[in-house]
Order: sequence, then structure tokens, then C-alpha cells
Amino acid sequence: MTRTPIAVLISGTGSNLAALLRASAEPSCPFVVVGVIADRDASGLEHARSAGIPTEVIRLADHADRAAWDRALAASVTRLEPQLVVLAGFMKLVGPPLLDAFGGRIVNTHPALLPSFPGAHGVRDALAHGVKVSGATVIEVDAGVDTGRILAQVPVEVRAEDTEHDLHERIKAAEQPLLVEVVRGLTAGRQDGPAATL
Ligand code: GRF
Repeated sequence: MTRTPIAVLISGTGSNLAALLRASAEPSCPFVVVGVIADRDASGLEHARSAGIPTEVIRLADHADRAAWDRALAASVTRLEPQLVVLAGFMKLVGPPLLDAFGGRIVNTHPALLPSFPGAHGVRDALAHGVKVSGATVIEVDAGVDTGRILAQVPVEVRAEDTEHDLHERIKAAEQPLLVEVVRGLTAGRQDGPAATL
């Protein structure tokens, strides 16, 4: 079986990446991770290295400006020839070059129930607001900050004693299977077809 190639972009510990890699180790999985790119020396890259998957770090500081970094990122992702790009804890907005090359084929996971609490501190902001339920959302990426079409959500109860870390860990536990399910759904049956349209 030919499997649908996906590229994964990370910035952190890579627990969502690890869940994708575990899923892709199953013979019936419709996708295969062909490369992992980070914007920093993310500890999560180790998951890819130990699975023998190519990794690359593309640092903003190594580029003349943000536009040059955006072009370098898009070029590296394009070289991997993925059908789908998964932002799995990638803590930078992706710019026009990547959106132009893979528009409609980029998904992002966010640790809150969008459209509430977009941005880099979704867990902290939800806690500060006193919500009793938060969760995770997988979206199709557009040019905005966590504004894309919602593909899937899972609720997670907020406990009175929760710290940001506690709540984020419980959200991640729910977020990982959600992301895997969405990526499975988007890649199943697309192996021989044209570029996927979400
Ligand atoms: C996830 O909760 C993701 O939604 C958020 O950062 C976290 C990344 O976790 N943006 P990991 O690197 O996959 O462990």
C-alpha cells in the first residue's frame, strides 16, 4: 500500500508528533511521516530521529528577516513532497510562501476550544478566564491566528486546583488521539490521488 506522505512541524516536546509516529507504525495506517521540521532545537525532534525520519531545524535567527525564513520553511517543506502538512505544537505563524504552496492542506492543533482563546497561551488564557471546560481543536490553517475552519474538537474538564501545566497535560492526552484521527481521515483513500483538498 502506498501511504500518504505528511510533514510535521514542531517547536516543543513533540508528544503530538510521537502519537502520529505511533499511529504510522501500524501497517494499516494511511499516512507516513516523511520529515519533521522545527524552528528551534526542539526536544521533540528526538522522536523523529529515533524513528529514522529526516529532521531539519530552520531558525529565524539564521535568516535575514521573517520573509526569508518563511521562504526557507516553505522550500524545505516542499522538498519533502508531502500531501498534508501538520503543525503539531509549531509556535510560529506560517507565512504566505507555505500557505501559497500548501493552502488548504495544512492543519494545526490548538490547546483550547477555538474560537475561544487563540494564540500562544490558550491554556493560560482559558484558566485565567475561569472556564469550566476547555479542550483541543484541530483546524485547517489560514492566514489568521487560529482562525481557520474547525475540523474537530474535544472537551476537557477544568478542575478547581488545575495549574496551567496540569490542564495542558490533560489537554494533550485528549489532543493526541484527536489529531491522529483527523490526519487519518484526511489521508485515507488519497494515496494515489491528486493533492488533497481538505
Ligand atoms: C500542544 O498542546 C499544542 O496544541 C500546543 O503546544 C502543545 C505542543 O505539545 N500548541 P507537543 O510538543 O506536541 O508535546
